[in-house]
Amino acid sequence: MQNLNDAQLLKTHSYINGQWHQSEAQIDVTNPVNDAVVASVSNAGIKETELAVQAAKAAMPMWSAKSANERAGLLRTWFNLMMQNQDDLGRILTVEQGKPLAEAKGEIGYGAAFIEWFAEEGKRVYGDTIPAPSGDKRIVVIKQPVGVVAAITPWNFPNAMIARKAAAALAAGCTFVVRPATQTPLSALAMAELAERAGIPAGVFNVVVGDDARGMGRVLTEHKDVAKFTFTGSTPVGKALISQSASTVKKVSMELGGNAPFIVFDDADIDAAVAGAMVSKYRNAGQTCVCTNRIFVQRGVLEKFTEKYVAEVAALNVGDGLNDGVQIGPMISAGAAQDVDKLVADSISQGAQVALGGKRGEQGANYYQPTVLTNVTNDMAIACNEIFGPVSPIIAFDDEDEVIALANDTEYGLAAYFYSRDIGRIWRVAEGLEYGMVGINEGLISNAAAPFGGVKQSGNGREGSKYGLDDYLEIKYLCMGGLGK
Ligand code: SIN
Repeated sequence: MQNLNDAQLLKTHSYINGQWHQSEAQIDVTNPVNDAVVASVSNAGIKETELAVQAAKAAMPMWSAKSANERAGLLRTWFNLMMQNQDDLGRILTVEQGKPLAEAKGEIGYGAAFIEWFAEEGKRVYGDTIPAPSGDKRIVVIKQPVGVVAAITPWNFPNAMIARKAAAALAAGCTFVVRPATQTPLSALAMAELAERAGIPAGVFNVVVGDDARGMGRVLTEHKDVAKFTFTGSTPVGKALISQSASTVKKVSMELGGNAPFIVFDDADIDAAVAGAMVSKYRNAGQTCVCTNRIFVQRGVLEKFTEKYVAEVAALNVGDGLNDGVQIGPMISAGAAQDVDKLVADSISQGAQVALGGKRGEQGANYYQPTVLTNVTNDMAIACNEIFGPVSPIIAFDDEDEVIALANDTEYGLAAYFYSRDIGRIWRVAEGLEYGMVGINEGLISNAAAPFGGVKQSGNGREGSKYGLDDYLEIKYLCMGGLGK
């Protein structure tokens, strides 16, 4: 990979106990633009994952004994280094993941913001005192780190999904082992390089890269020395990992799939709704768990919204994310583009109409055209499954109760969005939607200060915000007796 200001950020071995672990077997990391190999990374496996857990366990007493202020100082330095290297980290991310450079740099800022946030929040892990049932006793509650945290993170946010988990874990006093997606290990390894430069001690933050997903996953979910397991990815994989974690009764937090409704009511500001739908749908070429999956438009504004929306989507600039002005990059793989194509073809066979796009992109095997489908119904496969691609299905509706029922008619419950200017409706709909996060006249809801997470089969636990530390802390109740005269 060329054009990095600091070539030392390009690391190709797992980072375990402060050491870079070379192995003979290699994994090729490819650029989704053209599938060209950009780096080869040591292929770690079960043995290295076990070593990483042992290192994290050994580092636990030292790290948890540090004061919150000391940990905050180290995290703050890590944050500063990430921001100082935002250009290089963004470039690495674009080349391995495909999202446009501006968006990739945005992800670095987003990921770093969690480190900054939790550096501060770690200083506010307050306990409690509770009035005791008798005068000779006192009840005190303290919070302590859960222990070693293991994580598996996805390819769609190679930096931010690690930062969001690791920052909370480290701030709480836990040590951390992550297995990043094999498609995008370079961002994770660059984060390890910067953690080391920040002075985060050996064993506290470990990255194991390997293609034995099953074997490494088993170590991370079943190891008796791992106290908590956290995952971001699909619901089916999340379910399997939850059941593996049950064997040692681990604490788990899961950020799983979504099927976000985006509802436009007759009284909405249509220009704002179009802008909100664009950002919520086409971020990362539609490859985020909170991306709009179904656009519900009330019949009175159906034509107006569709016309304006199609014009905006048609103007999107598709190409290599390193080129200036590109807004939509390739999808992660040809297989992913093919899956989207199947959903589109199925909808067309069921009566959907193509208002725009509807085909694989001409830029290369991994591209899919930004697409708008009209005449879609909520029972089509495209409305029931997570599309994870740049396709907008538009579904017409008549009234509020109907659209709430349609929006909730899914096993998912991550993010939902709606546009209305009627204050009564805003409260009714916000409370009626069975989702963990609701954007009201807003299409971009993710930030470090807000609790990110879902209900139903979209997962459990919250990441970011003041709630984000809870998953990394145990509550301990101290009962002090014998205090009477
Ligand atoms: C995700 O797609 O899993 C995360 C998206 C976000 O943090 O906004």
